[in-house]
Formats: sequence, structure tokens, C-alpha cells
Amino acid sequence: MNIFGIILLSVSLGVVPAPREVHMGEQKMEERYASKVRYVRSGKLGPEAYELKIGKKGVVIKSSSDAGRFYAEKTLGQLVRCDQLYLGTIKDSPRFTWRGFMLDEARHFFGTEKVKELLDMMAEYKLNRFHWHLSDNQGWRVEIKAFPQLTQIGAIGCETDRNAPARFYTQDEIREIVRYAAERHIEVIPEIDMPGHARALVRSIPEIDGFNSTVNPGSEKTYEIIRTILTELSGLFPGRYLHIGGDEVQNKKWMDLPEVGALVKKEGYTAVQEVQNYFGRRVGAIVASLGKEVLAWDDLVVSGIPSDSAVLLWWHTDKPEVLKDAQASGFRTVVCPSRPMYLDNCQELNHKYGHKGRIQYFNTIQKLYEYEIEETPLVLGVQANLWTEHVHNSNRVDFMVYPRIFALAEQAWSVNRDFDDFLRRLEYVYSWMDTKGFYYYDARNPDRHPEPSCPNIK
Ligand code: ACM
Repeated sequence: MNIFGIILLSVSLGVVPAPREVHMGEQKMEERYASKVRYVRSGKLGPEAYELKIGKKGVVIKSSSDAGRFYAEKTLGQLVRCDQLYLGTIKDSPRFTWRGFMLDEARHFFGTEKVKELLDMMAEYKLNRFHWHLSDNQGWRVEIKAFPQLTQIGAIGCETDRNAPARFYTQDEIREIVRYAAERHIEVIPEIDMPGHARALVRSIPEIDGFNSTVNPGSEKTYEIIRTILTELSGLFPGRYLHIGGDEVQNKKWMDLPEVGALVKKEGYTAVQEVQNYFGRRVGAIVASLGKEVLAWDDLVVSGIPSDSAVLLWWHTDKPEVLKDAQASGFRTVVCPSRPMYLDNCQELNHKYGHKGRIQYFNTIQKLYEYEIEETPLVLGVQANLWTEHVHNSNRVDFMVYPRIFALAEQAWSVNRDFDDFLRRLEYVYSWMDTKGFYYYDARNPDRHPEPSCPNIK
């Protein structure tokens, strides 16, 4: 029995992520027939499911949607590359509807070509949510016509060079990336991190400064500006969600702000957390008024934001109770615990330049692959996040993303998982990466792509 639960094939198919069911024999189709594809629509299949039938003289792809057809074509392409066009049928559908990857371009900026390359990779391996962290303390990376200072001032600098020339996406570039992603069945979700992680924002618009890289949650001007920004963003991103951040808010000095004092008095608050919750609810209401749903970090679980209008990303590995609380309150959740799902963490003991965390935890590919996710109706899926404090160029992106992202893809898509079998199938993925020239971490031969250094880690 191989991991696909079928006895017919003695070899492992090279397909990543592993399909749900494979019914194939040892006989192969001649490759010249692989382009003879007949498409059949079947309402019986799920929204992203497909059936791929390899016959002697042609292929039949059955799906209920363009996405299912797209994924069938990806599987067929992999079978051709692996020279594994065995006669038979693959019946496939995803484990989770949310199969995400987050890129932080606030700490370092990579630009359109790198983002398109990452979107191509996501599509090839059936990932479908691109969460784009476009603002943080170090930089603001999206053009907002109403506030040109956000890119004239806020886009200057990055984690390793606070005076680096302004780098950001124009609205035309954003539209082009969103279009490119949509062609690949990927939804793009922009994140504007607030009320914390907002130094680039308040550097550009000082009148809403709330100290310690936060915005002032007591000032009506803050909400007016946020509404204007989110309104422009919602026109640029046609997807369902706007991500409003909400993590790690340094709110210690808020009570010193006169506007917060007035708010506390008016609402009868006794703790600064109540002010933070108020902020979350106000911004959540702005998002809802724009016809979008909130995506936010799990810090918002206590905010009182209506759970039917928000999806929370659970990232606090050390607080499993937050994931439970979120679901008990009715929030849909995406599982992306910092350990093992943060790709900025080092992946091996002898790597030096990644984020090692306070307890020197290493996010190995095996930990990511074998992480247990409890499937409940409110768990939408899983996501890997690449923070880029220690990732300053394209080689470091590749080195941190590949090959761990394939373990994530298999967590997200496959119900049949076996790490040894995955490593065997990864051989085909290495060949694919070689054709693309990726600077991936090659555990089989670490000297091939030595760990690239990062200037802010000595
Ligand atoms: C986070 O890692 N601060 C979401």
C-alpha cells in the first residue's frame, strides 16, 4: 500500500502536494497524447476538486469550476515532468480551503518580479491565499492617492537601512499583481498593520501619532484617515478580506493622550486593553461598511469584533487557548503558529542568519510537515509567514521559503501525508527549482547554496 491508499502502482508519484486518491496501473500513455485534453464540467465535484483521467490516447479533466480545472492541469504538468503518465485516474480535492503564504515587504521590499515568481510557485503547488504585509514600522509600501506622504516619507527606509530610497508599489503595479494572482486562482489580501507596528504611518502623518509606533485610538482624525486608506485599498483589492493587523500593540502611553483620556471618560473604561478593543471594533466596522471581511491577527480575539465578520490568524504558538477561545467565540481561524510555520526562523541547527526566537527554536521542514492541526468546521486552513527583518534579498527569500513551503502546501492540500514519501517526491521539486534557478536550501548538499548572510545579524 503506498500513501495514496492504492496498491496498483509500485512507484511513488512525483506529484506535490499528494493527491487524495490515485488509481493507476503500470502502463503509461505516450507523452504526445498528454496535450489531447477534453474538459468536462460536473456539478458533483467540490469547488476546487478535479478528476484527471489518463487514457491511452488522451486525457479527460472533470471539474465543477475553473479552479478545479487549473489544479488538474498543474497535476498533469507534474506527471509529464516526472515521466509518470500512467494510465488511470486521480481524484483530488483539498484538505483546506485556505492555503496561505504571507510575505512581509515592509521590512524589506522585493518588487513585482519576485512577487510574481512567488505567485507562480504558489499556483504550481496549489496554494491560494497571498497575504501581503504592506506596512509596518520600517516602511509603507502601497501608493495611497489621498496621502502621497505615505510613500514620499513612509516608504523611505527598510530594516537594514533606514535611509534607503523609497520603495513601494504604485496602484497600477498592485492592480497588475492582483490580476496576475487571480489568473492563478490566488486571492491577494493586503495587510495594513494597526494600531501598532505603525511607525511608517505616523512618521508620514504625525497628527495621528499615538507614541511607541502606534496610532492615536482616541482621535476621530485617526478613524477618518484609516477610512480613507481602507476605502482606496478596497478598490484595489477585489478579494473578500482586508487585513487590519492588531498584533503586539505597545499601548503603554495611550492613557497620556488627551483624546484617549476623553474616550476613557466617555465610555467608562478602566483598562487600556478596553481602548485597544474599541479601536479594533471601530476599524472592523469600517471594513464591514466597505463590504469586506476583517482578517486580523489572533490578538483581536478579545476585541468584541463580531465573529461572523472576521477571520483570525492564530500565530501564538505558546497560547493554544487563544485558538480554542477564538473558535469558542465563533471566529473562523487560520492556523499559522510561529513555531513551526514562520519561515524567517532558521531551519537547521547550523544556520546562523534567521530569526531563532528566544528559545532558539528551529522550524525544520519535518516539524512543519508533521505539525498536527485539529480539523474543526471553523478552521479554514493553514498559512506560512515570511517576516523579513533578516531577509533582505532574493537569495535569502528563496533560502528561507524553499523547500519548506512544499511541506506547507502538503499540509494545506493533502489528506495522505508521509514524510519519507514526501522527501522522495521532493526530488522532482528540486529538479523543478533547478530549472527556475532558485537559491533553495538543499539539505542533500548544503554547499550547493550556502546560507546567505544578512547584514543585521553578525
Ligand atoms: C506576529 O508575528 N507579530 C503576527
